[in-house]
Amino acid sequence: MTGAGGQLGSELRLAARGREDRFVFSDIVRGEGILPLDVTNPSAVREFVIREKIGAVINCAAYTNVEGAEDDADAAKSLNAVAPGILAGAMKEAGGLMVHISTDYVFGGDMVNTPIGEDFPPSPLNVYGRTKLLGEQAVVSSGCRYLIVRTAWLYSSFGKNFVKTMLGLMASRPFVKVVCDQAGTPTYAADLAGAILQIIGMLPSGRGSDIAGKGESDTPATPAGCVLNYTGEGVCSWYDFAKMIAEYSGNTSCEVLPCHSGEFPSKVRRPSYSVLDKTRIKQTFGLAVPHWTDSLKRCLEKMGKLKT
Ligand SMILES: NC(=O)c1ccc[n+]([C@@H]2O[C@H](COP(=O)([O-])OP(=O)(O)OC[C@H]3O[C@@H](n4cnc5c(N)ncnc54)[C@H](OP(=O)(O)O)[C@@H]3O)[C@@H](O)[C@H]2O)c1
Repeated sequence: MTGAGGQLGSELRLAARGREDRFVFSDIVRGEGILPLDVTNPSAVREFVIREKIGAVINCAAYTNVEGAEDDADAAKSLNAVAPGILAGAMKEAGGLMVHISTDYVFGGDMVNTPIGEDFPPSPLNVYGRTKLLGEQAVVSSGCRYLIVRTAWLYSSFGKNFVKTMLGLMASRPFVKVVCDQAGTPTYAADLAGAILQIIGMLPSGRGSDIAGKGESDTPATPAGCVLNYTGEGVCSWYDFAKMIAEYSGNTSCEVLPCHSGEFPSKVRRPSYSVLDKTRIKQTFGLAVPHWTDSLKRCLEKMGKLKT
């Protein structure tokens, strides 16, 4: 696993505990139980895969600073677009499976108001989304067996995320304004980690081909693998999300106010609607996807922030 020190990587490390499979965790810097691996370095990746006898990669390494990507497109491209191709190439050579994590931000350019299926044509609005789409395409064109899992609005007790930012702001301010004109679905990274391990465990010999469907997008399902959407269940705006964080954490001192994104001028264009349709992953794997509000409660409880 790459990016093992990040939000999703940390949840995957927890979820992997006690499982029979052998996991090797890596990140750009060494940590406890984490080996160093720079996924942008082709020879280092190849050597790592051979030395550690890697049969499948779960790629959680990414450039996830959406604002920062606008100013540092080269760094975002290197990590989000080029590195997935390097890892997928190594899996092609090793005959292994590449599980690559992608994003709802590959969409946004088309005005839609119903959940977006895996085969809908991508139309990213910003550098982050464009580089993530290139990464998906690099995985597909490598010829390896692959699963691309698109997710959205990730949060966890680990790392930096919207839930932690809101808890901090609510503790120190009389009011906070949050945009109400962008809709999506929050995803608890612990739920996603469980889903990824469940899916991998259900693939006979880890074969992506066993679940491949037919698609017509730029990253279609091919005989070698497929694209899957996974988020929490339901739909909300960032404002609704913040209101629930306030309610569940028992914060009454800070007023949560709705506003439009125009009030926060930004160089980043973001999707106004990027709800992902999870029919494929639910029907193929029988996954029970929790509603985002139930997952939020579990995360806050784990953080010791749930009002009792
Ligand atoms: N966060 C979201 O809201 C969101 C939404 C949709 C999809 N996703 C996708 O979900 C996946 C996981 O996201 P996340 O939030 O868990 O990301 P994250 O917390 O930012 O973790 C990414 C990890 O990759 C590491 N990394 C950076 N450069 C590297 C390199 N050259 N080689 C190896 N590792 C490197 C980072 O280390 P440093 O921290 O030291 O840089 C970090 O530990 C990503 O593919 C992301 O695009 C995220």
